[in-house]
Amino acid sequence: MPILDANTFEFFSRSPEQTRRLGMRLGALLQPGDVVCLQGNLGAGKTTLVQGMAQGWGALDAVSSPTFVLVNVYRRPGTGQFFHFDAYRIDTLAEAEELDLDEYLAHGPLVVEWPERVEPILPAGRLWAWLEYESEEHRAMRFQAQGRRYETLLDGLQQTVYGVV
Ligand SMILES: Nc1ncnc2c1ncn2[C@@H]1O[C@H](COP(=O)(O)OP(=O)(O)OP(=O)(O)O)[C@@H](O)[C@H]1O
Ligand SMILES: [Mg+2]
Repeated sequence: MPILDANTFEFFSRSPEQTRRLGMRLGALLQPGDVVCLQGNLGAGKTTLVQGMAQGWGALDAVSSPTFVLVNVYRRPGTGQFFHFDAYRIDTLAEAEELDLDEYLAHGPLVVEWPERVEPILPAGRLWAWLEYESEEHRAMRFQAQGRRYETLLDGLQQTVYGVV
């Protein structure tokens, strides 16, 4: 497991289940206001990772790609919401600017697929992940903490995945 620097770590997934399990570990650590950006080509595994994240966070709803809306909202017993924004079909930044991200972030974490399309409207502090197709069931994932909160989050993720920081 190469640790590139203190703010980055790589994970190699060998199956969709393994990607979901990693997502569950990450999702369990998420708090309101957290932003997680998932960059990667079609089929890289972004939504699969989000499925695990929402489950780990406690969502009871099934996760699917937002199709009719830009943002899916998942709920769990008790309080909080989990927001899943797919920017794939965003054509202009003006469309994205209509979304009140601050309002979402007051109520829960936000995960963004295709974040590079809407980068100017995203907060500077975030966990940014790059997902890459390696072969049929292999995916490489690189997570980078951008901001202090995300260094803590990434430390927590490494600890829960590998038992070390
Ligand atoms: N190790 C793996 N991790 C994640 N998905 C995998 C893996 N191996 C195979 N797959 C498959 O690759 C596909 C990933 O699809 P997914 O919808 O998660 O991608 P995506 O990045 O969200 O794509 P899109 O840009 O279309 O939204 C799924 O069919 C999944 O079963
Ligand atoms: Mg997707």
